[in-house]
Amino acid sequence: MCGIVGYTGTREAYPIIIKGLKRLEYRGYDSTGVALLNGKLNVYKKKGKVADLEEAVLGKNLHAHTGIGHTRWATHGEPSDRNAHPHQSAGGKIAMIHNGIIENYLQLKQDLSNKGYTFQSDTDTEVLLNFIEEIKKNNQCNLEEAVRIALKRVTGAYVILLLDEDDPGTIIAARKGSPLVIGIGKGEHFLGSDASPMLEYTKEVVYVNDYELAIVKPDELILKNLGNERVTPYIQKLDIELAAIEKGGYEHFMLKEIHEQPQTIYDCLRGRLDAMEGTITMSGIQQYAEQIVNANRIVMIACGTSWHAGLVAEYIFEELCRINVEVEYASEFRYRNPVVHKGDVIIAISQSGETADTLVAIEKAKEKGAIILGVVNVVGSSIARTSHGGAYTHAGPEIGVASTKAFTAQLAVLTMIALKIGYIKGTIEEERYRYLLKELQEIPEKVAWTLNHSDNIKALAEKYKDAHDFLYLGRGYNFPVALEGALKLKEISYIHAEGYPAAEMKHGPIALVDDKLPVVFVATKDAYHEKVVSNMQEIKARKGKVIAVITEGDESTKAICDDVMLVPEADEILAPMLSVVPLQLLAYYIGIARGCDVDKPRNLAKSVTVE
Ligand code: F6R
Repeated sequence: MCGIVGYTGTREAYPIIIKGLKRLEYRGYDSTGVALLNGKLNVYKKKGKVADLEEAVLGKNLHAHTGIGHTRWATHGEPSDRNAHPHQSAGGKIAMIHNGIIENYLQLKQDLSNKGYTFQSDTDTEVLLNFIEEIKKNNQCNLEEAVRIALKRVTGAYVILLLDEDDPGTIIAARKGSPLVIGIGKGEHFLGSDASPMLEYTKEVVYVNDYELAIVKPDELILKNLGNERVTPYIQKLDIELAAIEKGGYEHFMLKEIHEQPQTIYDCLRGRLDAMEGTITMSGIQQYAEQIVNANRIVMIACGTSWHAGLVAEYIFEELCRINVEVEYASEFRYRNPVVHKGDVIIAISQSGETADTLVAIEKAKEKGAIILGVVNVVGSSIARTSHGGAYTHAGPEIGVASTKAFTAQLAVLTMIALKIGYIKGTIEEERYRYLLKELQEIPEKVAWTLNHSDNIKALAEKYKDAHDFLYLGRGYNFPVALEGALKLKEISYIHAEGYPAAEMKHGPIALVDDKLPVVFVATKDAYHEKVVSNMQEIKARKGKVIAVITEGDESTKAICDDVMLVPEADEILAPMLSVVPLQLLAYYIGIARGCDVDKPRNLAKSVTVE
């Protein structure tokens, strides 16, 4: 939530910041702004997307070698020019951008108001900024010192970047709970919420840790903790290429990412799965294999689409490993008083690796002695770094706000973990194990087949785009896929959609069925297939429209349906990686048919770093 960019060096800061903000727009797009420091501060900000700001600043003075920029996902205060970042301190000499939430801002605001401060915006950010300015004034100290003192008094999460007219060329940055990457160039530094704003300039980056403060000058980077002690920056090499964050000829990132899935699943399996040898190599899991094998239970913690991946994994782990699995919404888990024992195994699933609820939930479980394994996409992210072990999903940058390729990569990783543990534990027979490895290796090809047989989905989207509601139904491994299909549709097209276990439909949702309600069944050939077909008949009997994802060649099911989307045959354990693909496309094309901004759906942000 919210993207931040900073630059200090010898180049013009504005174009670098604007390009960086465009890459970070997935984190929020309620408003955009830049602060440029060239002797004096020039602050320009605007409600809307980066393109709106670009238009608004035409003809303005944009010359500066130091600057910061922000793209906002609103928390405190509606999206407006006034609430857009950067904010300027009451004295006018300091500008600040912020990603996160200052929880005790009301108290601070009251104190500042009592001292005569007035506020231009409704944001918690402006309060923190003026609090910093007040400390700087009272203590006659520099900005760095004032920030350090202020941060000891605030609760909440933040990444902040500040510019000060009294110290041109320097950016002060600090983080707790929200991500901050600093790119190191020659005589220049780049700052970002992730590494995408700096990819074409440097491959050397530092991931700033919580409670660290950075003093960033063109030719110097100093990291300190809040106790004012120096911390040695740990420089890492980036292995993302620029092409990975561009659209590559597709109209939208979402479509590109859906079509990347044969490759991303392949990348995820590559070097790990060897079906010939019958091995799965995952060092971050191997290290904890004994504890996982002996665990009484595994708790999967995640949000949204990643939570759906956890639900599929629950079925897989219980089947292959005979271990009790619980799947928890991170936001619920963290605020309960959950029973966590030393040695419990927690699997945190997250594309971004920055989801605040998931991060805090695993931190709490870690304190209680649990073993935390991360199934994370973004390398070096907070959840990855907080985990004891785990496995990256290697899906590459996911920029479309709706998660697609990350979901199938999560399923691939979780399936490999379950196979590995089940094999060590002896709960999978050798023959089935070998068969599943071979089948899993064929999944990228089968996803490619699915994409190649998806031409009819665009027409389906036209046919059903005006529906007010959709039901998504599935059983067993395909039940979480139904949930995921419904989530994709509602976030991309703003059509109300609900997912249910197919049999549960009779306990309430069937009352919604009439001749206008499209009901999407995930009805691939599996152990429950006949039951699902009976559920379809129940919908048909009430004149509902039946659209189904079915297995290629299943003519008898096709005959009952109004419309079908095809996937190739696969073992039921692996089927979700295929059956979700047509549902992603259906959501995409319905969104397009309704004129929605599919890459940036309203009110959403890619990386939910506020709770
Ligand atoms: C839906 C979607 C969200 C995320 C959720 C968790 O398309 O993208 O539901 O899945 O916000 O995010 P991560 O996986 O980054 O923890």
